[in-house]
Amino acid sequence: MSARPSQPWWHHAVIYQVYPRSFASTSGAVGTLEGVRQKLNYLQQLGVDAIWLSPFYPSPQRDAGYDVSDYCQVDPTFGTLAHFDALVESAHARDIRIVIDLVPNHTSDQHRAFQAALAAGPGSAQRDWYWFVDSEQPPNNWKSIFGGSAWTQVCQREDAAGSPWEDDQQWYLNLFDSSQPDLNWDNPQVREYFDQVLRFWLDRGVDGFRIDVAHGLVKDRSLPNWEGEVSMVDGGEDDADTTRAPMFDQEGVHEIYRRWNAILASYPGERMLVAEAWVDPQTRLARYVRNDEMHQAFNFAFLCCPWQAQELEQTITDSLHAFRQVGRPATWVLSNHDVVRHASRLGLEETGKGPNGIRAREPQPDAALGLARARAATALMLSLPGSAYLYQGEELGLPEHTTLEDKWRQDPAFFRTKGAEAGRDGCRIPLPWAHDAAGCGFSPTGETWLPQPPGWAELAADLQSADTGSTLNFYRRALALRRDWELGQGEWSFQPCEGGVLRGINRCEGGEVLVITTVSAPSVVPSDWVVKLCSDPTLHLRAGDEIPVNTTVWCQRGN
Ligand code: NOJ
Repeated sequence: MSARPSQPWWHHAVIYQVYPRSFASTSGAVGTLEGVRQKLNYLQQLGVDAIWLSPFYPSPQRDAGYDVSDYCQVDPTFGTLAHFDALVESAHARDIRIVIDLVPNHTSDQHRAFQAALAAGPGSAQRDWYWFVDSEQPPNNWKSIFGGSAWTQVCQREDAAGSPWEDDQQWYLNLFDSSQPDLNWDNPQVREYFDQVLRFWLDRGVDGFRIDVAHGLVKDRSLPNWEGEVSMVDGGEDDADTTRAPMFDQEGVHEIYRRWNAILASYPGERMLVAEAWVDPQTRLARYVRNDEMHQAFNFAFLCCPWQAQELEQTITDSLHAFRQVGRPATWVLSNHDVVRHASRLGLEETGKGPNGIRAREPQPDAALGLARARAATALMLSLPGSAYLYQGEELGLPEHTTLEDKWRQDPAFFRTKGAEAGRDGCRIPLPWAHDAAGCGFSPTGETWLPQPPGWAELAADLQSADTGSTLNFYRRALALRRDWELGQGEWSFQPCEGGVLRGINRCEGGEVLVITTVSAPSVVPSDWVVKLCSDPTLHLRAGDEIPVNTTVWCQRGN
């Protein structure tokens, strides 16, 4: 594989998130693993080093697969274990690694361990796998991240009537949906169970795991009330913060990752763990990737950073510093299946983390502005040392679906907030592959599990592939240069420059690469520099030309 012997592949990899439901289908409305396999040439041509697959396990799909009922199988909707094995084999044949999603904070309520816990009743060893508590009221005031209480009383479950537990007064913890009970990681059996899950997939050849809610596994056992906000983002201010949420970022989580690190290290090759940990500040996040723990952590501070030059510079500087302190590479990400796509987010008045979904009656993003900034942000991100994550469809410049009718919504956050939040369906629309096919070629039947918005066909991969000025070809060029110049392994330093502009040098295999991002003011291509990449593929800039606002250029020395 292409990594330098001195640095493992994940130090500088570009990792592409496939959300299997919405990537490509070989059957009907929902995507399949075989659909992913059939698009590997596309991903290879794009130039990615690895794929991160969101969950494809058996699941009632109450949270789009993040409610797992069997950790060692493939949901028949997505295919079979044989399809999975074929995908790994075909990806590896193209030097593309496979990272899969592990969801250890909670199971589905249909998982056999939870069903056994319900059946065994209060006080049983089976109930100790989860957080069952005797209490007349909800045991504390914790809120579910999707809205409502984080506690469900067994007798109030939808399926309780007529069941053996219809009089069962115990409450169980669910930081997400009531169908996603939180596991009790203080129970050694839970730890042993997940050791086996890791080994099951490592034996099948996976190159790593993305760890869902990595900061949430261990809770403060005294279950104290928490008045602070409970969201994906922890409210901690600094390392000494004593008001840390009792359900997140507890010291005990690190022991689990040391244990997993040892399991991965016992396998040949360079296997990795990446943390989905919404932890603040960066120094706190960096603790998840200490030498004997995980290998990467998503940089949500970068994703949430407003389109503002000083804040971007500060966030990038802090990220590089925090991860360097623990000897791990920084990571970069702008979009995923949980946030408004950055081509739309950056076209909103507020360009920070953004709302949880957008509806037709809410302020609409400026599409052209959003796309220009999105490409500029992506070019900035891909010029930075470390590893970068792409979310499927961003290479097509896909916007959020902001006019999806509520009747289509599936995100539990929409239902649990009683519609106050639109939720995440708008960033999960099935991809457009072919402009002239039903469902834009997503499936052989033309079906798509969510409707595609107007204008999707013009963004289809087949059209963009043939258009040198397309977003897709801009991504391909950026990834090819990043690989040739080894930007991911370079040394970054910011240069002083005018307000509203970012200017940095990446010292790498490609020599000195000058990166200029015109965040809120234009700039000029300096003399003695040649523009090798411009985030606006229709511009052909030379030394002395103005770089319009919301653009990023990569330059090398020369005339
Ligand atoms: C984070 C995942 O990215 C999100 O999609 C999911 O809903 C929650 N964790 C709960 O598993």
